[in-house]
Amino acid sequence: MKKKIIAGNWKMNGDTASATEIVEGILDAANASSHDVVIAPPFVYLSSVAEKISDSKIRLSAQNLADHESGAFTGEISAKMLSDVGCTYVLVGHSERRQMYGETNTVVAQKTALALSNGLTPILCVGETLEERESDQWKDVILAQINAVIEHCGIEIFQETIVAYEPVWAIGTGKSASAEIANEVHEFIYYTLTSKSDKIRPSLKVLYGGSVAADNSAQYMSQTYIDGVLVGGASLKPSVFSEIIRSVE
Ligand code: 13P
Repeated sequence: MKKKIIAGNWKMNGDTASATEIVEGILDAANASSHDVVIAPPFVYLSSVAEKISDSKIRLSAQNLADHESGAFTGEISAKMLSDVGCTYVLVGHSERRQMYGETNTVVAQKTALALSNGLTPILCVGETLEERESDQWKDVILAQINAVIEHCGIEIFQETIVAYEPVWAIGTGKSASAEIANEVHEFIYYTLTSKSDKIRPSLKVLYGGSVAADNSAQYMSQTYIDGVLVGGASLKPSVFSEIIRSVE
């Protein structure tokens, strides 16, 4: 059986004290889990969190990376820097980056390539808005998001690139997608990718994100095509995130 992934995206929240509190509060659950637990703190806390989790099973992710290798890009953080401070994963193309910071499918594809060439596992976020779901365009939107990455990086990268389906209408709204809706989209993503290459079938992982909570995580995890969760708000509460980790069989 594939290991599942339970990832927590802290977004732009917290401080030094709360970062410590979260890490200490989830250590037991993470170390006892037979699955992979990943946390994505804000950039400035990555180094200190890396130190705190060095003897644990928790893995470190960044929330974003620059779309260039290095150079005069004031305020940006490169993939190499993220590897250097202990990240093994990086979120790419989160809907908040796409919507608020104008990240296009092309930029997301460039970032995915840079993550991979610097030894990071990208967690490629895709998903439709409410309007796109209601007008039945979700397949086209997700295809465009995925195809831009395939065109730039090739299909084989999905042997090591994780996909996260995060419907924009379910993020931070408390209005999670039903497990059935999520599974339908995951199945679509799974067959879209595996029909292009058999090689990715054994390792492809697609996570669900959007209002995941302690009382719905087990439902997602039990779906055939859901290989884990990407948790936002609930990952800031150590007891709740621990419950989510423990909800995975
Ligand atoms: P919420 O769990 O707060 O809805 O956020 C989901 C998300 O965007 C994770 O990346």
